[in-house]
Amino acid sequence: MSLFRKKNIEQMLVARAQNTGLKRALGALDLTFLGVGAIIGTGIFVLTGTGAVQAGPALMLSFLIAAIACGFAALAYAEFASTIPIAGSIYTYSYATLGELAAWIIGWDLMLEYGLATSAVSVGWSGYLQSLLSGFGISLPVALTAAPGALPGHATLFNLPAFLVMMAITWLLSRGVRESAKINNLMVGIKVTVVLLVIVVGVFHVKPANWHPFMPNGWNGVFGAAAVMFFAFIGFDAVSSASEEVKNPKRDLPIGIIASLGVCAVLYVAVAAVVTGIVPSAQFANISHPVSYALQVVGQTWVAGFIDLGAVLGMLTVILVMAYGQTRVIFAMSRDGLLPAALSRVHPKYSTPYLTTWMVGIFFGLIGALVPLNVLAELINIGTLAAFSMVSIAVLVLRRTHPDLPRAFRCPGVPVVPLLAVAACVFLMVNLSSVTWMAFVVWLLIGLAIYFGYSRKRSLLAK
Ligand code: ALA
Repeated sequence: MSLFRKKNIEQMLVARAQNTGLKRALGALDLTFLGVGAIIGTGIFVLTGTGAVQAGPALMLSFLIAAIACGFAALAYAEFASTIPIAGSIYTYSYATLGELAAWIIGWDLMLEYGLATSAVSVGWSGYLQSLLSGFGISLPVALTAAPGALPGHATLFNLPAFLVMMAITWLLSRGVRESAKINNLMVGIKVTVVLLVIVVGVFHVKPANWHPFMPNGWNGVFGAAAVMFFAFIGFDAVSSASEEVKNPKRDLPIGIIASLGVCAVLYVAVAAVVTGIVPSAQFANISHPVSYALQVVGQTWVAGFIDLGAVLGMLTVILVMAYGQTRVIFAMSRDGLLPAALSRVHPKYSTPYLTTWMVGIFFGLIGALVPLNVLAELINIGTLAAFSMVSIAVLVLRRTHPDLPRAFRCPGVPVVPLLAVAACVFLMVNLSSVTWMAFVVWLLIGLAIYFGYSRKRSLLAK
């Protein structure tokens, strides 16, 4: 039974009411900005290339499918987040509802999501930095440009820019730097401008002939690409996590979630249409900066340069947000006794989990330097999709076990919407490659071994 021991929700809510210092200041528009800032990154700027090779011009459909799956999951997620808005992580919520084992698995999945996401975005950042530098005639030694095996036919060894950017972000985080609303708004402005630039300039270079065949690999290609492009929407959970600071959660949360997903979906579909219309889709194989590449191909080198610069700036905040999330999940798990106490020790001067920040920064920095991007993206997606499925189930469980709990936001259409969320997440998971599944199972088994070998006995709830 100890596997299902739970934190007491009422106690958690009382504790929160006593020490909540957060202002309820955010409206629907702020939430939309928050979401878009966390969402637009390596997915659209880099994985679009892989997706185009897999789905062809039908990549547009892949984006739509991924967006719809995210929409369902986001609505369920928002109910969960607004009912128990503590510490901002679904790990904590599930501890109170599904019990310790499920919470452990979700926390373990989140570590995979956030940790590898920082690696993945650092790889994307590296591709654009190199494209930007090449505009000035600067190029790195080939061995230091990418992970081993990332560029077939090139002797690549280590992605140095990816590693360095992770070290820089880790340094900032370890000193307590967090993204501010001002910086986020600036980054959203830059990223949206860059994406609009691609669309507005690119559309004049589209040759409709490039859209045939529309689905070179059939529906399999479309669904497979949707499962990968899900990555491009990760980050919408940031909106739900802010529920505690929202003025009118009932109205603003769903608007913020749907609007940020909607804005990104429209932009992504348009970018997919434009870039696959400019360049035959197969040509994107092994291109690490596909969006600016498409404009380079048609001679728009100045515009391509601006895109490189905007992408390099904009992706920094995505790394920062993900790395922050990663350290806080580990911090929470350590505070609950499930991970060693040293991981939640806080630096006396900077008040940050210093050791954890550097450990994960170096670890995931090395992963980004040594593992190709598409492998990383699939792993992140499978971990995230599994966590979202569990959250959607938790919403249904919580409605039964705690029907009267005040819910700032209620997911519409229960039980249909959460069930659709589970179905959509599982469907995308099934479309990921078998290697990814194997790696995911190994990750889960390691997690379970740690849980049963270490955490279960040391859990604070056991004491
Ligand atoms: N959605 C984020 C990105 O594409 C993780 O970089």
